[in-house]
Amino acid sequence: MSHSYNIEKHEYDVVVVGAGGAGLRATMGLAATGLNTACVTKVFPTRSHTVAAQGGMSAALGNMGEDDWRWHMYDTIKGSDWLGDQDAIEYMCREAIPSVIELEHNGVPFSRTDKGKIYQRPFGGMTTHYGEGTAQRTCAAADRTGHAILHTLYQQSLKHEAQFFIEYFATDLVMDDDGNCRGVLAWDLATGTLHLFRAHAVILATGGYGRAYMSATSAHTCTGDGNGMVLRAGLPLQDMEFVQFHPTGVYGAGCLITEGVRGEGGYLTNSEGERFMERYAPNAKDLASRDVVSRSMTIEIREGRGVGPNNDHIHLNLQHLGPEVINERLPGIAETARIFAGVDVTREPIPVLPTVHYNMGGIPTNYHGEVVTLKDGEPDSIVPGLYSIGEAACVSVHGANRLGSNSLLDLIVFGRAVAKKLGAKLEPNQSHPSLPENIVDDLVGEFDRLRHADGENSTADIRSRMQRVMQEDAAVFRTNDTLAQGVDRINEVRDLFDDVKVSDRSMIWNSDLVETLELRNLLGNAVSTMISAENRKESRGAHAHEDHPDRDDEKWMKHSLIWLGADGKASIDYRPVHMYTLSDDVEVVPAKKRTY
Ligand code: FUM
Repeated sequence: MSHSYNIEKHEYDVVVVGAGGAGLRATMGLAATGLNTACVTKVFPTRSHTVAAQGGMSAALGNMGEDDWRWHMYDTIKGSDWLGDQDAIEYMCREAIPSVIELEHNGVPFSRTDKGKIYQRPFGGMTTHYGEGTAQRTCAAADRTGHAILHTLYQQSLKHEAQFFIEYFATDLVMDDDGNCRGVLAWDLATGTLHLFRAHAVILATGGYGRAYMSATSAHTCTGDGNGMVLRAGLPLQDMEFVQFHPTGVYGAGCLITEGVRGEGGYLTNSEGERFMERYAPNAKDLASRDVVSRSMTIEIREGRGVGPNNDHIHLNLQHLGPEVINERLPGIAETARIFAGVDVTREPIPVLPTVHYNMGGIPTNYHGEVVTLKDGEPDSIVPGLYSIGEAACVSVHGANRLGSNSLLDLIVFGRAVAKKLGAKLEPNQSHPSLPENIVDDLVGEFDRLRHADGENSTADIRSRMQRVMQEDAAVFRTNDTLAQGVDRINEVRDLFDDVKVSDRSMIWNSDLVETLELRNLLGNAVSTMISAENRKESRGAHAHEDHPDRDDEKWMKHSLIWLGADGKASIDYRPVHMYTLSDDVEVVPAKKRTY
């Protein structure tokens, strides 16, 4: 090697990368079982993006009316447009109930009913009796549920003596020649040192990649770092074409206005003052699933019924709820609307627009959090030593479209599941197999190359081009033309990265290099999304293809897997959807037409 870095070595039973809801739930559970657990995170744990989750976490507790986890399972399968794996969905919806009760016992300050039970609000697509009634299933701490959960989990993880490596940027997975994951390489931003974390299990809990787009509810830190590492390790990502647009991002700013607003009785109107969702979803109306509401809003705007001087957005009304409900149940969004839209929600509607919010696709796993791949024709082959949970993962419980409040649920249920799995599998403090001395040489060499990159294109310029292409060509509605154009354009943007320029060469607090490493990850995600979207010739969930407007179960009821070679070439293959359940307590839900 021409460069020389002193690499500090650490050995743990388990290393968790990421300290959002999933990462912290796993960290807490692992440390509580006595495993020597490190959590490596690029931001301070309570600044992870889960802190921004507003509306709540679904679980069929039945505190506010009748409910059943089987109805929750049915809603989730229907919401997924029959792309979700039914065994994993059964697991999630059943385990939701103990998972939320454990959180309560851990100290999450949920809002309460008059009887002192956890308060639950209605959310989109959540029904009783298999689509008949409206369920109140979403457990909320006002409109700051993620904040409440994150702080509790961090405190509990510290109590159980998990070790935190804060403001460490994980750059790459360390894989051996047999395809086992042996650890992770990370850069300590404060001291400028590189670290090799050895572990029997590495858990990627690195969140989504909303920042591949120009306008997203996601934090600027949501750069799909784990997904990028997986692609560079020669492993595939799954269902990357499915990107969720949340119906109510603040117009012009992109900040989230929770679906809980509509759950509490808020509604959307067009320039004629019409509650147009009654036309698109006569039963669920404003509480139809997100893909349906976002498409309806986009059609209203396209057909000239948007509001504002340019007829380019929609109104969200909650004035009629009154200050008491707003102050008690929705204080955070009242503040957001005032700051980012200049609106007093007790008197005026909020200007909103569908905004990128969530990635259904990600690292393929089973319901234990084990990363799987297609190997020798076997679609569920486990990658030894590698796990993934939360938005980074594609279990797949959300299929082609996630229901609101199933995200916090996914974080907690699968963070808990992976801790249980590893708690049963690993003995604490086992020795680590020896590794070749040069195992990280190539990874460090690439890090060094980027640190000294002296090309023509700034990171900021490449990033804004990428965001523009994704916003324009991988939008709510897609066509053959926009997707073909999108593939060409995103490949051109990716090629610019070969000639990137990093201006700051230092190792300490080098934000230019951090953003470049993040961009490398974002580009992998963006290219995978565009190519997977171009490949899928049907409409399903969030993938609305105007030249193929119908769902095609015969050809396309399958997960797409995409690999990106080192030369940038993509290849695609498929995994079957799991159309089977885990137990006999529930039956498979056969595919049918999806209406709300
Ligand atoms: O609308 C919301 O509060 C977002 C929740 C979610 O994405 O699950």
